[in-house]
Amino acid sequence: MAKKLKAKTLRKKIRSIAVMTPGGDAPGMNTAIRAVVRTAIYHGLKVWGIERGWYGLMYGLIREMGPKSVSGIINKGGTILHTRRTPEFNEKASRKMAFKEVKLREIDGLIVIGGDGSMKSAYRFMQEFGVPVNVIPATIDNDIPGTDYTIGFDTAVNTALEAIDKIRDTATSHERVFLVEVMGRHNGFIALDVGMASGAEAILIPEVRFNLEMVARQIRTGQERGKESFIIVVAEGAGNAFEIADKLQDMLNIEVRVSNLGYVQRGGSPTTLSRELACKLGAASVEAMIKGKTGYLIGAISDRVSLCPIKKIIKKTKQIDYEHLRVANMLAT
Ligand code: F6P
Repeated sequence: MAKKLKAKTLRKKIRSIAVMTPGGDAPGMNTAIRAVVRTAIYHGLKVWGIERGWYGLMYGLIREMGPKSVSGIINKGGTILHTRRTPEFNEKASRKMAFKEVKLREIDGLIVIGGDGSMKSAYRFMQEFGVPVNVIPATIDNDIPGTDYTIGFDTAVNTALEAIDKIRDTATSHERVFLVEVMGRHNGFIALDVGMASGAEAILIPEVRFNLEMVARQIRTGQERGKESFIIVVAEGAGNAFEIADKLQDMLNIEVRVSNLGYVQRGGSPTTLSRELACKLGAASVEAMIKGKTGYLIGAISDRVSLCPIKKIIKKTKQIDYEHLRVANMLAT
């Protein structure tokens, strides 16, 4: 009993937390901010919002968040706290500035909503200064182990799908080949999902070496069978869609057009799935912290909230589902 009591007293009572959204934004971040703030207030905590990610923590751009501060944002893309790529946070001096602010404001714990880079920076900050941190996975790339999906991924895939369905119309009218480049950084998760859902004739991802001769042969065979259009989804990490298009055009001696979807995938109102994930993970991240469970990636596995120690996944990369690719290719022939 005494040991348990000692552990309990050792565990500092959480009275005030701060929430931030460093790194690339994603639809659903505002939904998650709202869930963190509302859960914290429900449990009687003070909650601070850190503007512009690590930069804001370093320079004290921090404001108290009341219940009204998150009204009307559940459906808004982007992040009301703003974000800013802060490479200087790789310097210890910058991290010391940030820790000074944490102490000054008597912040007992940090909730970091972001992607792979944010998780790594948050974990290093926790290791160096002992500040309890929980990370909510929010990135359109879906490249975070420990969770089936990241906040924003479903929205980005649906945005890309809507665009590709439109491109299919004009590709069919002109009987053209289109290369559509999607985001995803070094991974092909967006390309895989939207490739299958849009019925793309080929999906090029960084995880799988592709043979352009084979793609050209597939297009020729399709044309002989009367196929009127070809959509090739290219993950940005697999290569430059414009260069690939030039090569294909030379091989096939037909018009090959390119559409790079770019930043439209990062905006828009979050889908139901992105919002529900954000609500669940936002609430769980605060309630875990209150119970002294920190240093976790707060994810969802088979739709159930799952706490995964960051130290277990910090060096891991998420694997794609090769079966997904096989089926998508089979259905496209
Ligand atoms: O990580 C999200 C993401 O949109 C990637 O898919 C993309 O490669 C990158 O961010 C772009 O970064 P930035 O917004 O700094 O140009």
